[in-house]
Amino acid sequence: MCGIVGYIGDKDVSSVLMSGLWKLEYRGYDSSGIAVIDDGDLKVRKSFGKLMQLQELLQREPVGGSLGIGHTRWATHGEPSDQNAHPQTDCNGKIAVVHNGIIENYYTLKEELIKRRHIFKSTTDTEVIAHLVEEEFRGDLKEAVLKAVEKLKGSFAIAVISEDQPDRIVAYRKGSPLIIGLGRNENLLASDIPAVIGHTKEVVILEDDEMAVLKKDGVEFYTKDGERIEKQVQEVPWKPDDMDKGGFPHYMLKEIYEQPEVIRRNISLRIRNKKIDLGENFNFTPDELARVNRIIIQACGTSWHAGYIGKYLLEDIARVHTEVDISSEFRYRNPVVNGETLVIAISQSGETADTLAGIREAKAKFLRVLSIVNVLGSTIARESDGVIYINAGPEIGVASTKAFTAQVFNVYMFTLYLARLKWTIQKEEMLKRLSELEGLPDAIERILKRDDVIRGIAERFKDKKHFLFLGRGINYPTALEGALKLKEISYIHATGYPAGELKHGPLALVDENMPVVAIATRSSVYEKMLNNLEEVKSRGGVVISVVTEGDERAKAVSDYTIEVPDVPEYLSPIVNAVPLQLLAYHIAALNGRDVDKPRNLAKSVTVE
Ligand code: F6R
Repeated sequence: MCGIVGYIGDKDVSSVLMSGLWKLEYRGYDSSGIAVIDDGDLKVRKSFGKLMQLQELLQREPVGGSLGIGHTRWATHGEPSDQNAHPQTDCNGKIAVVHNGIIENYYTLKEELIKRRHIFKSTTDTEVIAHLVEEEFRGDLKEAVLKAVEKLKGSFAIAVISEDQPDRIVAYRKGSPLIIGLGRNENLLASDIPAVIGHTKEVVILEDDEMAVLKKDGVEFYTKDGERIEKQVQEVPWKPDDMDKGGFPHYMLKEIYEQPEVIRRNISLRIRNKKIDLGENFNFTPDELARVNRIIIQACGTSWHAGYIGKYLLEDIARVHTEVDISSEFRYRNPVVNGETLVIAISQSGETADTLAGIREAKAKFLRVLSIVNVLGSTIARESDGVIYINAGPEIGVASTKAFTAQVFNVYMFTLYLARLKWTIQKEEMLKRLSELEGLPDAIERILKRDDVIRGIAERFKDKKHFLFLGRGINYPTALEGALKLKEISYIHATGYPAGELKHGPLALVDENMPVVAIATRSSVYEKMLNNLEEVKSRGGVVISVVTEGDERAKAVSDYTIEVPDVPEYLSPIVNAVPLQLLAYHIAALNGRDVDKPRNLAKSVTVE
């Protein structure tokens, strides 16, 4: 949601800002804009709609200069329009602001500013910031921004420029992500690393209530009281190519195909000398983990499905009572906890507002929080007591794929680690389970080689209006994930159910127009699953099953099958998710959907 970029240096400023905005496009937006200081004048170009519209505007009305800020807006206050697009400016059109987040007290501030004769051009909350900076400006933009920020309530990351101090960009963070990219004779800022990676690998992650003043030859950092501070510079281990589609038609497909590599990378990072290593940010001692007697996993969407699989793993293998909650419910539900309760937050982006609020709720109850996160240095990672990074690399497609399988992999690693501390598995069993992991990347590769079979099934079913996804046991959440993937990118209604629930209601829906996608691989609930599929078949239902390679019995109760390699049951969600991702992808692509940026959705949901 909302993306911010900023650049100061010798390159063509509008091109650098635009390329940054293209990289942030995945976050979701409905309008965009840039502001630059060109020949001493502040110039703003902004447009409702896609970035292409802004690009065309810039071709018609080009701007130059050596510094500027840019923004992709996801409307919260005020409808999507040219006027409400950022940057927003002050009364004199000398100060421009871009903002990600929400100003909660904007209404009161706006009323006061109007009384003081400020003239508003938009219905955004952001515009109040431009007018506040205008009131406080006495020749020093940094001081003016610090004073303006004191009056703001809510969450925000902002970048501000002024034609009266045309050698700097002032940025401030409180609650919404903001990183600074350090270059040679150029510096950048952005909401996320992808926007700067083409220019530099050296980044500084701003903490809440920190400010950065970017000049061409350096960046200074300050506290909210204006005290100068030193910040740690981090090297980002990404290559610029990580951000490309690599010859695939969509990021989502590329990311599905990256899964063998992601799992390989995780195996090499997490298993060292036949022992589990949860990484240098893990921060939990064996003693405190051994005492944990209850776990609450909280997350949203796909990450919640990964957490749900975690419940099956943690209870079965580590024998720890585990609840799994959707963050937007968890944060308001006042759960019963005790001093030995561990809260686990799972998030790809590390910025999801509800998951973050769940962490804060947990901390208010003095609970320890472990997060399982993809994005390095994200807010969720920083606010947790310990972090397990899932090492999936940048995920650009809005529909999460490789992050899901990497989340499940890392939840499994944590489970085994905890199980050893709790003595619920012996060393030999642990070693056996670790060695089983080696076959996982190849198993995924084998499924990817059958992509044409899956595409064929997608062609056959792409016009259906409803789908039912069924699974049992540890693959019930996998079925939920399959249904979510399909609905979010194809806009086809899909719902996931535990197969045992069929006869308690959903069986009434089954007919030839409601394809049933079933996970029927060999498992402890295999026989039960086949019975459920018989029920569907005898009601005239059409069954598409994910089955274990060579399993003739499962094929006999299915109309279409996708074969997957035989893997141990606790690894099966990682393998079984892949054909469901491909099925959703092909159905959406064949229907001409905007696969990487489905309507109404954003990659990083930073508002409640
Ligand atoms: C679906 C999807 C979303 C996210 C959810 C949580 O494909 O990507 O359901 O899983 O918005 O996002 P994170 O994991 O960033 O907290």
